[in-house]
Amino acid sequence: MFETLPQPKLDGIIAMMQAFAEDPRMGKIDLGVGVYRDEAGRTPVLQAVKAAERRCVETQESKSYLSLAGDQAFLDTMETLLLGGAVPSARVAAVGTPGGTSAVRQICELIRSARPEAVVWVSAQTWPNHAPLIAASGLEMRPYRYLDSDKGGLDHMGLFADLEQVAAGDVVLLHGCCHNPTGVDLSAQDWAEIAALLERRGAVPFIDMAYQGFGEGLDADAGGLRHLAARLPEVLVAASCSKNFGLYRERVGLAMAIVPEAVRANLAGALAGLNRKVFAFPPDHGGRVVSTILGDTALRTLWQNELEEMRLRVAQNRQALAQALQAETNSDRFASVATQRGMFSLLPLSSDQVAQLRAEHGIYMLGDGRANLAGLNDFSIPVCAQAIAKVLR
Ligand code: LMR
Repeated sequence: MFETLPQPKLDGIIAMMQAFAEDPRMGKIDLGVGVYRDEAGRTPVLQAVKAAERRCVETQESKSYLSLAGDQAFLDTMETLLLGGAVPSARVAAVGTPGGTSAVRQICELIRSARPEAVVWVSAQTWPNHAPLIAASGLEMRPYRYLDSDKGGLDHMGLFADLEQVAAGDVVLLHGCCHNPTGVDLSAQDWAEIAALLERRGAVPFIDMAYQGFGEGLDADAGGLRHLAARLPEVLVAASCSKNFGLYRERVGLAMAIVPEAVRANLAGALAGLNRKVFAFPPDHGGRVVSTILGDTALRTLWQNELEEMRLRVAQNRQALAQALQAETNSDRFASVATQRGMFSLLPLSSDQVAQLRAEHGIYMLGDGRANLAGLNDFSIPVCAQAIAKVLR
């Protein structure tokens, strides 16, 4: 039966995780997978998570099934975290999913069951797993211009020219904040212009929110989503708690449809039905940890402080790397690293230069130059800057 099964092409991020783990060199530097690391290179369990887990273990009396949507407290507290009351709950249908990845997939399945001919528009540079997830749902995907690689900022003209091609009923996938891989975020003005354009064209935004709290802060990072939700009749959301709660391997996410009140119950049923067909009930533990933290003033304060510490560390790494690169290369080529947001920047390097960094210096980043700046520390910043300057010579 399986003799002719084609070998799957390994996802670039997963392949790099494996290659890094197998590299025996002591001084290797991991700027690969999007995982937060502290100054010592660790990804510790957050203290707020530890405390919430202890509370859950002590108080939970049953692990019997809940509904197909999962724990209602998780969905309610996440609705507030994401939407901040921008729309009435009567417009919101949401289900838990195993991580943000499944949330993206379930939203694609929802789009396909409602409108199989819808095109999903995706920024030309995007998370490498978006295309496979969209294709696996049988939807057509088209790129819109996003990055102006000369200035390391938004290609505003290109983005709006391409979005003018969007048809009524098409879907536009946007990164809520901390654009992966470019680190280039939309301003409040850009979000307002996008909302007006989508409204005029009758297209539906789909927000992938995987890094809330890592850009400007929890509320600021959700500003674009909240603006769209308040203005447009339909908004789709895939959210992840992997990064901001450090719950990576617990797989905590949710798929949300913000719709007119009259169809909310239909959407809730459709999302629950889609869950039933793949994993039935979403995992509970991580979501319960999240709702325990968000529902308790002391735990929430502890978590927000921990998240803020992570956000500021990554922002400081940005500044320090940009400065070190300026000094080593004697150019402003990397200046935008300092102004971008979130864990990633797309360093302006060729694939050969990226390969050379890995082979000769043990520095791992994605082939297109995507670097996770959380993987840097005071010791590795000058090492990386010197190595990058060397491969550029
Ligand atoms: C990343 O982009 O590195 C992370 O979101 C991890 C993943 O699942 O790809």
